[in-house]
Amino acid sequence: MGIRTATLLLAGLAWCGVLVAAAGVFNVKDYGARGDGTTDDTKAFMDAWTAACGARGWSATLLVPAAKSFLVGPTRFSGPCASSRIIVQVMGTITAPPARPWSEKNYWLMFYQVHGLTVTGGSTGLLDGRGGTWWGDKCKRHAALVVMNCADVELSQFSSKNSPQMHIAVSQSSKVHLTQLTITAPWNSPNTDGVHIDRSQDVRVTRSTIGTGDDCISIGPGSQFVTVDGIVCGPGHGVSAGSLGRKGATESVEYIDVKNVQFINTANGARIKTWQGGKGYARSISFTDINFTNVDHPVVINQFYVDRRDVPNMGAVALSNITYTNLKGTTRYKTAVEFDCSESGSCTNIHVNSVAITAAYGGETVARCQNAQGDTSGYVYPKIPCLR
Ligand SMILES: *[C@@H]1O[C@H](CO)[C@@H](O)[C@H](O)[C@H]1NC(C)=O
Ligand SMILES: *[C@@H]1O[C@H](CO)[C@@H](O)[C@H](O)[C@H]1NC(C)=O
Repeated sequence: MGIRTATLLLAGLAWCGVLVAAAGVFNVKDYGARGDGTTDDTKAFMDAWTAACGARGWSATLLVPAAKSFLVGPTRFSGPCASSRIIVQVMGTITAPPARPWSEKNYWLMFYQVHGLTVTGGSTGLLDGRGGTWWGDKCKRHAALVVMNCADVELSQFSSKNSPQMHIAVSQSSKVHLTQLTITAPWNSPNTDGVHIDRSQDVRVTRSTIGTGDDCISIGPGSQFVTVDGIVCGPGHGVSAGSLGRKGATESVEYIDVKNVQFINTANGARIKTWQGGKGYARSISFTDINFTNVDHPVVINQFYVDRRDVPNMGAVALSNITYTNLKGTTRYKTAVEFDCSESGSCTNIHVNSVAITAAYGGETVARCQNAQGDTSGYVYPKIPCLR
């Protein structure tokens, strides 16, 4: 080693040392966690969190070391914390207990009221929800990771697999960035959405790979200013905005920007769905640069979610200013585009620009369209009959 290298190394170490001193690192092992995959480490995690959250300084780090598996039961990591940022560095695996002992809670790991939170896995971190012990059950199931009532959050570079229910739920939070995540569960595991967002603003999901048994990303009631960019989705039910207006509720989503998404062998692609009889709106939603490979239903608007066509004039959540630009690829079935709007006339300003969706197994494709108002521009195949 040359002197220059050594000097640099020392300087680097000293710099790290200063950082560490300023930050404070709270290793769960120092709080008694065993990390053998079978001992219950819940208390050690709670104690390490309490220490990290109480530490003063510009940031504090809760460290989950690599090459170990920590069994942790349902835990709520609550703020507010003393420092302006808490970093949870998950280098190893956090494993959920099997279903039975924790069925009374509706989450596994929850961050609650934390402002300034980073959960990062440095690409080795894994959350293993052990959902296989739940999926057969009809009883209430659990989201694996919940970000509730938080602000200024980054979740990055970890994997989440086999959640009992949703993998990551972002609720009542703002300024949340999820990036470089890998989320996996079998295609037939029920309700295992990759990322679910509701009642939140300013949420970005980027550069991630998601394949589960339900929506890759679902953007639910009360979501505003959501960006989805650079996602590979499949298997699963696609990216959906909505599920609004259940049981006549008044609910809204707006300013949703979905771009640069590759759907591979999914049941749906770009989907907006609202319940019949609901109130509120879904507006200013765009899908741009989307690539479908063998997708069952690539483009879907459905104002009749859970079909009650037998009940007339129930009203509908209003859809408007929905833009599709540059969609291409293949569909598994003949119908590539389905705009299934209610007769209430509340499906307006639908803009479709440049679409080419062909049949994966040959033959023509068609669009089904009722009660949708709007226009098309550029080459659009299949033709969408009810748009100008
Ligand atoms: C329509 O939606 C786009 C986003 O897709 C937004 O930028 C634009 O402001 C919206 N237009 C209106 C009139 O709301
Ligand atoms: C679309 O998907 C195909 C097949 O998965 C891939 O070869 C192609 O590069 C993709 N194009 C874009 C723009 O993502």
